[in-house]
Amino acid sequence: MRKQQNFQWETISLGTCYYPEHWDRSLWEADLKRMKAAGIETIRIGEFAWSKVEPREGEFSYEFFDDFLNAVRAADMKVIFGTPTATPPAWLTEKYPEVLNCRMDGVKFRHGMRRHYNYNSPVYQDLSARIVEKFAGHYAAHPNVIGWQIDNEINCEVDVFYSESDTAAFRKYLQGKYGTLENLNRELGMIFWNQEYTSWDEVYVPRTTIHNTSNPHLTLDYYRFVSESAIAFCRMQSDIIRKYKKPGDFITTNGMFDHLDNHRMMDEALDVYTYDSYPNFAYCLSEDPVHNRDLNDRKWSSHLSRVRSVCPHFGIMEQQSGANGWNTRMEAPAPKPGQMTLWAMQSIAHGADYVSFFRWRTCTVGTEIYWHGILDYDNRDNRKLREIRALHERLRSIRELAGAAYRASFGVLEDYDNLWDADVDVWHRRVEKASKKEIFAASQLSHTPMDYVLLTDGTEYGDLKDYPVLFYPHGLILTERRAKLLRDYAEKGGCLIIGARTGQKEEHGRCVMMPMPGELAQLSGTSVEEFTFVGAMDGQVCMEWNGKKLDTGIFNDILETEKEDVKVLACFASNYYEGKPALTERAVGEGRVIHFGGTFTRDTVQALLSYLGILEPYRAQLELPEECELCVREKNGKQYFFILNYSPEEQEIRVKQEMIDMFSGEKICGAVRLTGDNVLCLESVTTL
Ligand code: GAL
Repeated sequence: MRKQQNFQWETISLGTCYYPEHWDRSLWEADLKRMKAAGIETIRIGEFAWSKVEPREGEFSYEFFDDFLNAVRAADMKVIFGTPTATPPAWLTEKYPEVLNCRMDGVKFRHGMRRHYNYNSPVYQDLSARIVEKFAGHYAAHPNVIGWQIDNEINCEVDVFYSESDTAAFRKYLQGKYGTLENLNRELGMIFWNQEYTSWDEVYVPRTTIHNTSNPHLTLDYYRFVSESAIAFCRMQSDIIRKYKKPGDFITTNGMFDHLDNHRMMDEALDVYTYDSYPNFAYCLSEDPVHNRDLNDRKWSSHLSRVRSVCPHFGIMEQQSGANGWNTRMEAPAPKPGQMTLWAMQSIAHGADYVSFFRWRTCTVGTEIYWHGILDYDNRDNRKLREIRALHERLRSIRELAGAAYRASFGVLEDYDNLWDADVDVWHRRVEKASKKEIFAASQLSHTPMDYVLLTDGTEYGDLKDYPVLFYPHGLILTERRAKLLRDYAEKGGCLIIGARTGQKEEHGRCVMMPMPGELAQLSGTSVEEFTFVGAMDGQVCMEWNGKKLDTGIFNDILETEKEDVKVLACFASNYYEGKPALTERAVGEGRVIHFGGTFTRDTVQALLSYLGILEPYRAQLELPEECELCVREKNGKQYFFILNYSPEEQEIRVKQEMIDMFSGEKICGAVRLTGDNVLCLESVTTL
């Protein structure tokens, strides 16, 4: 079973990110006062400020943050302190260039940006341990410090590492995993294209090659290694902070990035997880927000659902509070009136109990002069500050919802082996991307809330049992152990839905010599006779289910039944495999398994959810247009419905059972108008 998180917020509250080192000291007191007046209780500081404490190697000075913390104490604010390892200082990278990360061709990333270090340099590990020791040793006892953020956005900017230290550590990692080169050569298929190694010195992290293509099985291990390296770096800091932090103070890190097993990082090093939510990316000038079939404007709901799978009661360390843009990229308009509130409420609706806006005031210097904060350069009160104040007022009525559980009607299984294999394998990537997007869209448009559910070797039936339906869209890598767990889930009453390519590979990403769906074939009672991408000349390929034509997506597995008790629900209705099974069902124990030979489309998903009786589970209480998202949280037997209107236009909602409008305190029933970019929070009158 997954470990429970160590820390939870008691009430929903607001914060902001503040950089005392960016401003004249004369501004500190007034800034803190204005925050407090706007309802902001907590600030995050310090995460890039290494030189403020160690301006030269081995010279430590604490005065700057001591002074700032005095101002914080006087203002009665709380602080989350960041460790500064995301930005090693110039003196450090100049003297120890081996700490720098490199491009694939070995060229070093130089000082001048951030996150330019690598996790495996012993020098960087020592210097990082020392600065973290100094930060935590000196500041953790301060009464106004309530938590710690490790580094900043681990694996952000770049999630691949090619320094010499990485190669040295990768060799060790592989030695630990395979013992001998003979094993490595055999397990990773090095016989192909004469790639066998004869000495460990010949093994490297991926390097520049023709098409930059390397052995895929070794690359898959490389991503696992990157994740291990990042987690070890985070754990090293967490172990140090834990020696100094006050009981009850928490350790976290922010963001959610690739080639990183965020779940393991959470379980091994953190007390609570925080995320950085920037939905305005959907409106970047490079995006197409108008022809928006992908629901780009609410894609962050999908990200937040993943965050929830890492940590059910999470926080937002950085919530959008202005227009985006570096001086070099990511230009986007300012959030419209209401959008900052909508996006903050989106976070809360998905399980966040703390929301901290990035940043208090836009920086007047550096790369992020266009990454706007609440206040602008001129430092005057503005519409954004008024919006925060109004949000704070609204939050008063839902403060006590902290800790309420998000209620999903079905789950989508994910595992890191397959997420990373999809990074190595373009066939895998295509099907994965297509299905994930469409399952999300189906859930959104039909107001059937979903969760992502992590599958690991440690996952147990207890982690899955609350989901009546689990999609495992394209589990190409399928181990015996995981197949056994899925069998257990189905036999005990769950409905498992698998899609094309299931069971193609084993744990190293090698293809298994058995019919798909491999380890699940006994359970599904099916096999895959043939398979193909749907080509440009094929048009749309469909299956016919109960007289209705449904698109079978971008890839088709042509199914065969292998057991008598397999029911063919639908057959392909076009292409050369017309008439062959596309969708089958088999009852197993108390539950069932459904095998779909395609990638999922929103219509197929909705048809499946309807067939299984879980589509639109709240239709007796609410009727909503597609423009609105529905999130449901539950606490003490009460249901709380968050209705988020992402369109700029007013929408009509029908409340079919009397509920309490949490923001006004009034009872409502019948037709309700919800203005554009706005949110409604309703409390059920009856208890569950
Ligand atoms: C985040 C990061 C912040 C800031 C912000 C805007 O990814 O943590 O430090 O850079 O983006 O770019």
